[in-house]
Amino acid sequence: MERPPIPAKIATEADLGHLHPKAQALAHLPLEERIIARWPSLWIGHRAADDVFKTLDRYLLTPPSIRPRNLLIFGESGVGKSTILNRWESRVRADNAKRVESEDHDGAGEWVVLPAIRFQTPPAGDEAKLYNNILLEFGMRLSPSMALAQKELMVRRLIAQCGVRVMLMDEFHNALSGRFDKRLHFNVLIKNLTNETGVPIVAAGTESVDQVFQKEDQLNRRFNRLKLERMKMDGEWRRILRAYGKLIPLRRPSDLSEAGLSERLYALSKGVIGELSNILYDAALAAVDSGEECITDKLIRLIR
Ligand SMILES: Nc1ncnc2c1ncn2[C@@H]1O[C@H](COP(=O)(O)OP(=O)(O)OP(=O)(O)O)[C@@H](O)[C@H]1O
Ligand SMILES: [Mg+2]
Repeated sequence: MERPPIPAKIATEADLGHLHPKAQALAHLPLEERIIARWPSLWIGHRAADDVFKTLDRYLLTPPSIRPRNLLIFGESGVGKSTILNRWESRVRADNAKRVESEDHDGAGEWVVLPAIRFQTPPAGDEAKLYNNILLEFGMRLSPSMALAQKELMVRRLIAQCGVRVMLMDEFHNALSGRFDKRLHFNVLIKNLTNETGVPIVAAGTESVDQVFQKEDQLNRRFNRLKLERMKMDGEWRRILRAYGKLIPLRRPSDLSEAGLSERLYALSKGVIGELSNILYDAALAAVDSGEECITDKLIRLIR
């Protein structure tokens, strides 16, 4: 398909007033750098994420305790659980680095604490793999000959020494895929890890986790629960669309929150942000490829 020519003046700053300044700076780049490579780092703030952040921030203020209160964040695939945990963890790390720098009066440096660590839950809640995942997060090189007890000891020591206040365990449903005896073993493992370190776990998983929790009293009693829902088609939905419109570095404005387009995007994504993200990614590629440089109702009809 022949591309329509882009007007020569298109990349001038005056034309990019519809974009966030950071997106303006990207708008002149080729497709690969502008959309493909940048998409995974695109963050859209939303109310549910703010609520989770507020809850997680409180964990940082809570000193280690004998019986820490864990949290389960659950919701269907694509509602943004991992993205929220990721974003919060990087924010905590950045804030922490800034604080350390401001307190480092003579510029000699110091040991940085690691308030939050994030790792994946291994399939069937396998104990050795769980310790491996945690040790890798601490930047440890694993030796195949290291015994389980040694790994366990090292994990506990590092958690205490590095000032960890919360452990973020993603894909928690992995742990519940095993047989009953494996699940029982995992329950005990979680109980011991949190009790002995005094550090709570914030777990994220799909709704299947919640169903298992409801059946297994042992787990249920140790975790508060927080459900992430699909978006509703309200003012928040339109706000999210406006944010995408400002952040996707296309050279012409897209009115994503306009009633017709907003409704179409809702109908296609069913309010799941992961789905919306997929649709807008494809749309952004098509907008650049065609030379249209904006997302319209017509373009969405073409790609979906
Ligand atoms: N706040 C956000 N800003 C921008 N993009 C987002 C946001 N939340 C989710 N996404 C997009 O949606 C995709 C799916 O989100 P995510 O992986 O966080 O969902 P999930 O709830 O962890 O799903 P699963 O249960 O399958 O692991 C992400 O890869 C990202 O592209
Ligand atoms: Mg996830």
